[in-house]
Amino acid sequence: MTKQYHPETLSVRAGNEMTEFGENSEALFLNSSFRFNSAAQAAARFGGTEPGNIYSRFTNPTVTMFQNKLAALEGAEQCVATSSGMSAILACVMGLCNAGDHIVASRSIFGTSVQLFSNIMARWGLQVTYVSLTNPAEWQAAVTPKTKLFFVETPSNPMTEVGDIRALADIAHQSGAYLVVDNCFCTPAVQRPLELGADIIIHSATKYIDGQGRCLGGAVLGSKTLMEPVYGFLRTAGVTMSAFNAWVFLKGLETLFIRMEAHAKNALELATWLEAQPQVARVYYPALKSHPQHALAMQQQSNGGGIVSFEVRPKAGQTAQEAAWALIDATKLISITANLGDAKSTITHPATTTHSRVSAEARAAAGIQDGLVRIAVGLEHVEDLKADLFLLTK
Ligand SMILES: Cc1ncc(COP(=O)(O)O)c(C=O)c1O
Repeated sequence: MTKQYHPETLSVRAGNEMTEFGENSEALFLNSSFRFNSAAQAAARFGGTEPGNIYSRFTNPTVTMFQNKLAALEGAEQCVATSSGMSAILACVMGLCNAGDHIVASRSIFGTSVQLFSNIMARWGLQVTYVSLTNPAEWQAAVTPKTKLFFVETPSNPMTEVGDIRALADIAHQSGAYLVVDNCFCTPAVQRPLELGADIIIHSATKYIDGQGRCLGGAVLGSKTLMEPVYGFLRTAGVTMSAFNAWVFLKGLETLFIRMEAHAKNALELATWLEAQPQVARVYYPALKSHPQHALAMQQQSNGGGIVSFEVRPKAGQTAQEAAWALIDATKLISITANLGDAKSTITHPATTTHSRVSAEARAAAGIQDGLVRIAVGLEHVEDLKADLFLLTK
């Protein structure tokens, strides 16, 4: 099916497996275990000599449909669905790394990913070096004989920095390492990292894959060989996607392409307007010509995505944080919440929320200033969003 149809068609049709009841919408298999016809069949299923479902910690038909649909969209051989985006990163590292292994990670990644690498995995002997997303020479210089993974988000959260996936994949492969791309900001509707040379994709399905802020979930995608130990970790540790959440995500994927286009259209219009406001010192959005990696972004992505960040200019007597908080508190429509990828626009102050557990030095190194505000632009009319940011025009 992957070769025959366009991605939009795959988002609606791929992976679906219907039962003998002839349902036209995917069924929700809300059950923990599956019955066997005989003891011999049970043994064959457990022994792996007969394919089929066993127990929903590691096999469930609704989750399988979600995995196969997302794999078709990313062009991956296999997808392992997980309980959240963070457990997708955990399963990836636990499946592929051993104590003493080394990861080179972009300095510009989600704060909780930094916590996972530096505070939790480090206790189990994993070494991590943080480098600039936009400077491939730093990645080359950071490689050690123990380097197993390169880990990037592009565009990054919240600065929307863009990394050169092909260049980083080449450096990783010359060093015998794998390139992992967290593709949560773009989704396969906007960017397909495996086609650009990446080896593994991470998703927080919680974001655009759901698209309406309902469920937590995640996914790891790549070749069958790389996914085997990742699946092995999930099967044992149980960081499993629930069948109900998989069913919601299946519905979300059906509208992914039209939603991502609408998010990006609104985001570009809002970013362009923000650039013209005197109270805004700087706007970060990959589809703006002023973005430092604009040309690269437009090669790798089909549009700029839905996330816009900007620095608020403080008024006399105000700190940068006070200015950012005043803007956020004055909004009436946009939701003050740290989630992103929802139909509802969300606004957040990264320095005191998503990145508050990152040290002040690491925040400064990643360019996250106290006046920075991030908007995950939703599907409301853009004029209503501009009106809600009225403090910027005063
Ligand atoms: C880029 C990125 N990756 C991963 C995650 C973690 O996803 P989850 O909240 O589903 O665990 C997030 C959450 O905000 C994120 O923004």
